[in-house]
Amino acid sequence: PEAITIQELANRMAERAVDVIKLLMKQGQMLKINDVIDADTAELIAEEMGHTVKRVSEADVEEGLFTEAEDEGGLKPRPPVVTIMGHVDHGKTSLLDALRNANVVAGEAGGITQHIGAYQVERNGQKVTFIDTPGHAAFTQMRARGAKATDIVILVVAADDGVKPQTKEAIAHAKAAGVPIIVAINKIDKPAADPNRVRTELLQDEIVVESMGGDVIEVEVSALKGTNLDKLVEMILLQAEVLELQANPDRTAEGIVIEAQLDKGRGPVATVLVQKGTLHVGDILVAGAEWARVRAMLDENGNQVKVAEPSKPVEVLGFQGTPEAGDRVAVVENEARAREIVDYRQRQKREKASVQFSGARGSLEQMMN
Ligand code: GTP
Ligand code: MG
Repeated sequence: PEAITIQELANRMAERAVDVIKLLMKQGQMLKINDVIDADTAELIAEEMGHTVKRVSEADVEEGLFTEAEDEGGLKPRPPVVTIMGHVDHGKTSLLDALRNANVVAGEAGGITQHIGAYQVERNGQKVTFIDTPGHAAFTQMRARGAKATDIVILVVAADDGVKPQTKEAIAHAKAAGVPIIVAINKIDKPAADPNRVRTELLQDEIVVESMGGDVIEVEVSALKGTNLDKLVEMILLQAEVLELQANPDRTAEGIVIEAQLDKGRGPVATVLVQKGTLHVGDILVAGAEWARVRAMLDENGNQVKVAEPSKPVEVLGFQGTPEAGDRVAVVENEARAREIVDYRQRQKREKASVQFSGARGSLEQMMN
């Protein structure tokens, strides 16, 4: 339910918190500045102090923010968004490097991917967006998010190592999200490679690949030697065709934050995957409890772009604060609207935190009685 701290209520009325506390005291309530009062009490206090009260609900604030109405009529094919998942060191980043002719692995600390990278690759005139997720157990949470923003999961399994705990986790995430899996049996160049063992082990998690009579596409690849990468891309595009992926590029943009951090020189930077519409430099957007006037957008090669269409991942500069991975993004009409939404969400966040705090104290009191 709705609740507010005394400090917050005072702030919103531009009154002193002590005056609020005094009023409450007159009504027989002994409370401190960070204590939480319910919405009805807050309303009474506000009215007694001569303010008019307007209760704003989430529905009011969020109205029209995410909409499907604009999609109609303008749907066009969009590139697939593919998340690469799998056990640590099975070659996720290497595979992505090979697909985009780059070398990210060499630049990583200890060869472990610490964050999610997003790239768009063009092969034979067709675009595919890849999201690289960390393979470390500590990042299960982020991987779960990776699966949400994705159309297809590439499950990388090293042929010399087989199905491992994080392979199983990735399968569970993909299944939970209802996302089709393509298995990339990697490292087939290795003498110890045993692709058939991988196929058999996958049966335990009810992944039956095509060569075993199932309907999960599998491709044997070597990220190191570049073997069968064209075939892998072909299979991705085939799968994408089946999914009939579409979005309207001619509407206000919506998307999701893939990763975000505070950059010393550039301020808050967020990698945003555009999912609907087209994002433009100069647009005003909200992402979770933060907003931005898009100052610049950079593609995966660090080049500035003016627009980003559906399935395009871009680094967005111009945020007031740092949003969180997984936050949904929506473009709004103007700065005032952005501030209204963000103010509301930040308040919600604070109030949630303080309600949880007082809830904990409540139960402590109960314990003592
Ligand atoms: P995390 O991000 O830590 O989960 O690892 P990753 O899955 O991204 O694996 P990464 O691409 O960093 O590769 C791990 C190691 O396997 C590196 O030393 C790669 O050079 C090696 N490797 C990747 N693909 C192949 C391959 O096809 N063949 C061989 N022989 N080695 C490979
Ligand atoms: Mg990696």
